[in-house]
Amino acid sequence: MNGSKYTSFKEYMDEIANSHQCAVVYDGKLVPEIPEGVERLPFIASEENKSKKGAEAIETFLFTCGLLRSDLVVAVGGGVVLDVTGFAASIYKRGITLHAVPTTLLAIVDASIGGKTGINTRWGKNTLGTFHLPERTIIDLDFLKTLPDAEFRSGLMEIYKIALLYSPALYGILTKWRPGFTPDLEYVIRTARTLKEEACRKDPFDRGERGRLNFGHTLGHALEEVSGYSLTHGDCIAYGMLFDLFPGKDEQLVHELFRWGGISFPLPFTARELWKPMQHDKKRTGSDVDFVSPSRSFTLSFPAFEKAYYEWNRIYTYSSV
Ligand SMILES: NC(=O)c1ccc[n+]([C@@H]2O[C@H](COP(=O)([O-])OP(=O)(O)OC[C@H]3O[C@@H](n4cnc5c(N)ncnc54)[C@H](O)[C@@H]3O)[C@@H](O)[C@H]2O)c1
Repeated sequence: MNGSKYTSFKEYMDEIANSHQCAVVYDGKLVPEIPEGVERLPFIASEENKSKKGAEAIETFLFTCGLLRSDLVVAVGGGVVLDVTGFAASIYKRGITLHAVPTTLLAIVDASIGGKTGINTRWGKNTLGTFHLPERTIIDLDFLKTLPDAEFRSGLMEIYKIALLYSPALYGILTKWRPGFTPDLEYVIRTARTLKEEACRKDPFDRGERGRLNFGHTLGHALEEVSGYSLTHGDCIAYGMLFDLFPGKDEQLVHELFRWGGISFPLPFTARELWKPMQHDKKRTGSDVDFVSPSRSFTLSFPAFEKAYYEWNRIYTYSSV
């Protein structure tokens, strides 16, 4: 991508392989061009493998490769591979240098920025994690050519989130996106990345400003869990954004999110089912649960959530969108 010194992943990888002792963890669905002789581990990207077991497999790989702390780990994949490899890299010999090569739209505009790593536990999604910034992030948009539509939409939903939080101009560009008229994707990505980078720079350890990026994520994460991860991260965040804005209802936004497909009402989950994973939400500070919208943060007790959730589900089910 423009702004990077490399024109492709291959060019980056060739140079790194010549100058560093490195090991690559890559999404097993991909066939990245890794030079001969470079140690590599294919990793099946699933929320189930984004776990202690998955992290341990990566740690074992790094030890087997004999990597020193001064060497380098390269993570090539979507948010799952980046999160779990970042986690393993952050604790391997108290932290080994990480380079990130995001291969999904979501990982490009979100998961590769800000240094959050994480794994899932029986206590919930991303409940163990560290901060470990990649020293470099290499973006090769050619990876997106093989990305399924549903995964592309998932990333797009995070771009909507960033636009709604920080940039009416970016939101305006998204609304003009039609079949036959695709905005300059490179520009959209660069703008979204810059906005997220700025938020992370202001609040590197997620103690204040960065909390706004959790817009849509309280209900979103719960939906991911109760759906057994059959819904994509981005689609769940889209539901979550609509919930966080409720009782407000921005018709244009509703139209925008629905026109990409992927979300429909009524949601088949009970408020009680969703409440359970929300109890483990990292944003939670007391017995109630915190929600974040662009204009406000608010807290709901279970009875208040239950009432709002059923009302919201009902209104969206019968709304003519
Ligand atoms: N660390 C962060 O700041 C952060 C931010 C947002 C999301 N996340 C995490 O990221 C994860 C979601 O990331 P994701 O949406 O990238 O999911 P993912 O990594 O599971 O990738 C989605 C699917 O696309 C496949 N894939 C990856 N690259 C591909 C390519 N180029 N072509 C074809 N298929 C490809 C994967 O194998 C997988 O099946 C979640 O676990 C979420 O919690 C982390």
